[in-house]
Amino acid sequence: MHRLLIPLLRALSDGKFHTGQMLSQCLGVSRATISHVLRDSATLGITLYKIPGRGYQLPASPDWLDASRVRQHLHNTAHDITLDIVDSIDSTNAALLREHASIAHRHCLAAEFQSAGRGRRGRNWLATPGGGITCSLGWRFEQGINALTGLSLAIGVAVLRALQQCGYTGLQLKWPNDLLWQRRKLCGILVEVQGESDGATLAVIGIGINVHLPAMARKHIEQAVTDLREISDNAPDRNVLLATLLNTLVETLSLFEQQGLATLQDEWNTADAYAGQEIQITLANGNILTGMANGINEQGALLLRTTQGNLLSLHSGEITHARPLTP
Ligand code: BTN
Repeated sequence: MHRLLIPLLRALSDGKFHTGQMLSQCLGVSRATISHVLRDSATLGITLYKIPGRGYQLPASPDWLDASRVRQHLHNTAHDITLDIVDSIDSTNAALLREHASIAHRHCLAAEFQSAGRGRRGRNWLATPGGGITCSLGWRFEQGINALTGLSLAIGVAVLRALQQCGYTGLQLKWPNDLLWQRRKLCGILVEVQGESDGATLAVIGIGINVHLPAMARKHIEQAVTDLREISDNAPDRNVLLATLLNTLVETLSLFEQQGLATLQDEWNTADAYAGQEIQITLANGNILTGMANGINEQGALLLRTTQGNLLSLHSGEITHARPLTP
């Protein structure tokens, strides 16, 4: 994506027609550059009209993120979060990991676009400019890495709470931490950790929520996906959504620091998309296990009742197939 695309889209955000000449004056670049940058927008799934003699029009503009608007909706408990919003970055997770741990703690970095968004298991995370919430929050844990067991599941609960508070219903969790709607992925979470010399650990909590994922972008994603626009006709206010997310993250992280996953376990299990269903888990070594999903335990391990009747607790792996049990 060209670095001028988002500034140009912002300039077009009033929904009116703007000539190439007006835009070139506004951004201080040639008309040829404007035309070149805007031509690329179609490949990102952005609808833009170009009418000879009238110029360019953006019929549906994203509600751009604005740090002061986000801050208006933060609870007192989240007021000390430092918040940065950038137009474009490689990956908000990668950027926070580049920071010194003392700066990254309670620092949220949100981006309108990521050129190299990271997903779990080496996948990438795709979102169009202004089409999602892509953010990372750094959190320093004084205890060592073992205290972080189950953290990514706790984050799943935090994101679920935020979306529920914003009015979204029917959302479910897929172990370990995807959020689904009607079995399609709405949100992904990537927690990356970095140990420090004094034994403390920095967790970089990356969250991607699909707000508007155009058909063009969906073609490049291998799994079934959805976005908030599909779930509700009311367009979400991304600034309110980001603030609500930060509020629930701070609340959940404080709880997690004191009691681990224990107090969030029931909430996770209530939202489990696959409880009581026959699932297939692919382990990191490629082995496949089948059995009945039995929710999670206090550490966030997935409980799997195998066909032989054993109850396994799995700490890693991926649910690759599921179907309701036949009577
Ligand atoms: C997954 O594979 O489900 C996890 C996706 C996590 C995506 C988010 S978007 C913000 C943050 N920055 C990244 O590069 N990845 C995470």
